[in-house]
Amino acid sequence: MSIEIRGLTKFYGTTPAVDGIDLSLDDTAKVLALVGPSGGGKSTLLRLIGGLEPPDSGSVCIDGKPVPPHEKGLREWRRRNGFLFQSFNLFPHLTAMENIVLPLVEVHGWDRTEAGERAREVVERFGMSPHLWKKPAELSGGQQQRIALARAMAHGPGLLLLDEPTSALDPEMKTEVLELIEELCRGGQRIILSTHEMGFARSSADAVVFLGGGKVIESGTAEAVFERPASEVVKAFLGKVMKW
Ligand SMILES: Nc1ncnc2c1ncn2[C@@H]1O[C@H](COP(=O)(O)OP(=O)(O)O)[C@@H](O)[C@H]1O
Ligand SMILES: [Mg+2]
Repeated sequence: MSIEIRGLTKFYGTTPAVDGIDLSLDDTAKVLALVGPSGGGKSTLLRLIGGLEPPDSGSVCIDGKPVPPHEKGLREWRRRNGFLFQSFNLFPHLTAMENIVLPLVEVHGWDRTEAGERAREVVERFGMSPHLWKKPAELSGGQQQRIALARAMAHGPGLLLLDEPTSALDPEMKTEVLELIEELCRGGQRIILSTHEMGFARSSADAVVFLGGGKVIESGTAEAVFERPASEVVKAFLGKVMKW
């Protein structure tokens, strides 16, 4: 996907969470990883790209199409994408099946039977068929995140936005979910994710953007950012997080 971001700014109170970001990526990048310290602006940038909220100024274009600046257009933009957040993704009172079917019917206007078939198909692909009729509390954290991922991509999103999809999981469950995301990447799904899993970003992302203080500190191929970072901030961060 090509991404053109110009002067993008978003304030919360008097603090800019995203502070005048300019970014240009050509369409050789299918998977983009946002990395960097907590509070750096990763989640805010993801929300702006996904149209969950409008920016205070600036613009985002994906594949030449501008993310609409107003709520009316944003609703349609959101529908075209898929989202997965760190945790609390599923409706606790609904089965895995209903968690996937409901948005297909209510948000995307699918017919119920068709939505049910699609839910079974993605759940099977994600190795979760035996758990179709369980509620979230009956599933492990990793299984819940796999169902949430199945739901995020069931409608065939143009762009899948993942905000620290594994940070609430135990190491073993992390691996389960990362393997699934990797499979989606290999299948050509276009993904923008924020993550603290540097090994995963290094091996699966085509492009990496390092955010700090709401600004792009460094961006480039995964290899360039991880192996030859130019900025002292990035070097220090990587030195710390890759120490063990
Ligand atoms: N809804 C919000 N209300 C107030 N401040 C926020 C909100 N979301 C984010 N922030 C602030 O914006 C900055 C960037 O946060 P965030 O985008 O969540 O960074 P990251 O995802 O990299 O940890 C932080 O200083 C954070 O405290
Ligand atoms: Mg965040």
